Amino acid sequence: MKLYHEIIVDLGERSYPIIIGNKLLDGGFDLTDFISGSDCLVVSNVTIAPLHIEHLLPNLMGKKIETIELLDGESHKSVATMQKILDKLVASGANRDTTVIALGGGVIGDITGFAAACYMRGVSFIQVPTTLLSQVDASVGGKTGVNHPEGKNLIGAFHQPKVVMIDTDTLSTLPDREFRAGLAEVIKHAVIYDMAYFVWLEENMQLLLDKDSAALAYAIRISCEIKASVVAEDEREADRRAILNFGHTFGHAIERCLGYGEWLHGEAVAVGMLMAARLSDIDSADLARLQKLIAAAGLPVDVPKIEFEDWLSAIGMDKKVQQKRLRFVLLKALGNSHVTSSFDESLLYGILGTDS
Ligand code: NAD
Ligand code: GLY
Repeated sequence: MKLYHEIIVDLGERSYPIIIGNKLLDGGFDLTDFISGSDCLVVSNVTIAPLHIEHLLPNLMGKKIETIELLDGESHKSVATMQKILDKLVASGANRDTTVIALGGGVIGDITGFAAACYMRGVSFIQVPTTLLSQVDASVGGKTGVNHPEGKNLIGAFHQPKVVMIDTDTLSTLPDREFRAGLAEVIKHAVIYDMAYFVWLEENMQLLLDKDSAALAYAIRISCEIKASVVAEDEREADRRAILNFGHTFGHAIERCLGYGEWLHGEAVAVGMLMAARLSDIDSADLARLQKLIAAAGLPVDVPKIEFEDWLSAIGMDKKVQQKRLRFVLLKALGNSHVTSSFDESLLYGILGTDS
């Protein structure tokens, strides 16, 4: 009998399952079915490895396992850190059959996936996400990469994992602030795509904050279903997938302008979503509902002080810019979003804190 929930990310020959459950570590789910060769490299960091790496090893029984522990934090999501993974692969004589396994949050998942995409022009990788944010979002969809001092995630590749294994028990060690940051991406999925989910979140936010296991499992499942469905429609973000970036143009600018790691990614996205909602043509009651839900999740709602010129230069680095024209994900209504280059410029300037 299956004790987990399975969602398929439907991408033809690159399709893969997302496995969601508890008690999956310690051998509760056999990852070796997704590993063709004999060698694995588990990539984690100095915070997560002592808590969880031992529990992952029984899921890899019979495989030859190397491990590497990176420094912790968004400020280490860099080419230099990725180089350490590549060095480890070279030093251990890894070949094309090697599978690289990311054990950690979105930072570890993104860097590890990118190293796997680059090593020998691409080796297999597996995601074992351990933060709420990475369980509902970052581990799914194959976006991998690192930051450049001039912008978030500017260097990267699309590289899909072979499987995503989400053990909700790992969240028991996650600090509350990190947990709340993950709720930002949960709210994002509801507001861009699914009004019924938005209403469910309004009614159940306290249960999520209390880490009620049924509520958590439900939110992770619905978020993964939404993400899997959008990614299946538009894997390489020709258009539709960009809705998953709701709030991220402003959020990435906040992260870059305040210094990576100062605000958590999810906190920056929370305020970014409110800024994008203000730029949208929705009524004030809906805007107030979104703000109330974000505040109820314990996330920030006030725009940090950033110089106007810094905003503009950070927003100009956004990957959605086409032919030098800014594009935003805006709301048509709660639960319904689109990508557009049509927006009110003077309203944007007002939102950025100047009317000039
Ligand atoms: P993170 O990876 O930095 O993890 C947050 C903190 O929690 C870190 O200090 C980490 O060491 C610690 N941690 C992780 N799991 C833990 C556990 N179970 N117990 C105790 N501590 C634990 O941050 P994040 O919020 O998971 O991810 C943010 C990153 O994800 C950003 O770089 C963002 O750009 C990226 N992201 C990528 C995608 C994508 O589609 N690839 C989507 C959203 C976000
Ligand atoms: N987090 C945005 C995306 O996966 O497309």
